[in-house]
Amino acid sequence: MKQKILTGDRPTGSLHLGHYIGSLQNRVQLQHAYDQYILVADLQALTDHFDQPEKITKYIIEVVKDYLSVGIDPNQTTIFIQSRIPEIAELTIYYLNLVTLSRLSRNPTVKHEMHQKGYHEAMPLGFLCYPISQAADITLFQSEWVPVGDDQLPMIEQTNEIVRRFNRIYGTKVLKECKAVLSKTSRLVGIDGKSKCSKSLGNAIALSDPPEMIKQKVFQMYTDPDHIKASHPGRVEGNVVFAYLDAFHSDQEAIASLKVHYRRGGLGDVAIKNILNDSLQLFLAPIREKRNCLDANMVKEILHQGTAKAAQLAKETMEMVREAMGIKFT
Ligand code: TRP
Repeated sequence: MKQKILTGDRPTGSLHLGHYIGSLQNRVQLQHAYDQYILVADLQALTDHFDQPEKITKYIIEVVKDYLSVGIDPNQTTIFIQSRIPEIAELTIYYLNLVTLSRLSRNPTVKHEMHQKGYHEAMPLGFLCYPISQAADITLFQSEWVPVGDDQLPMIEQTNEIVRRFNRIYGTKVLKECKAVLSKTSRLVGIDGKSKCSKSLGNAIALSDPPEMIKQKVFQMYTDPDHIKASHPGRVEGNVVFAYLDAFHSDQEAIASLKVHYRRGGLGDVAIKNILNDSLQLFLAPIREKRNCLDANMVKEILHQGTAKAAQLAKETMEMVREAMGIKFT
């Protein structure tokens, strides 16, 4: 039997190159050797978008198109909608008893997001508790591997703490611990060079961006602010264009000599941006073509089938969990 993988994304915006590098490319490879589940995390998306459900509904379809367009194959990967699996909510309720408020408040990713969203004193509990529902996502599908970006490591740690606690308290082994699968480059910097690329900060190149927009974003990229003249030596470290060339150019030897030239002087920012634009256009063109062949009805059918399959596994795990807890009333 193949080992299971579960991962997911909040459907709050289009997936971008950062998702590709941080996780999607891993998923495309892993789907052959593992039994892979991908959850479209609409419940989790509601924790900070509860007032915009229509946005989430729209992006459920868009995100699944992103998956399919990069090569996630619905015959190899089960793609499903989180809110259609009520066992996730049930398991979350049981897990809530096993985690303290102070432990939750220490989660660095939640802390960072809290700050970013300016919640301060008005923290919605749903948001604070999303790592617990994420633990339910992972364990309900008995997943041993979780391909994610490194910002999700605290969630994996939290999940494993819950697993150990649950198994110890209820004297069982039904829940499995999991491990993160990280990419070589797990964080891609945003075009502004300030932070990692993010849908909400608007500093990312989406997988579905049209060619002109890609070019426009490449030309907005932060380079070396002291590189005023092409003839001057330039800095490669912290230069967004080189970070993207490292991640996406197909000929890394050519990039190594390009860096030597840039450092020496005589290579302008327009030249390196043109090279990056060409390689990103080449990379994204087949993804766009594949996407153009998809329509919303095809996506809905894939979700329908994936959700039916996921529901079966959720039901089986939940029966074992209730049995372990001794709350099986029949
Ligand atoms: N927290 C993840 C994100 O923000 C999404 C997610 C929800 C997830 N449930 C998951 C990731 C389970 C991995 C496993 O992108």
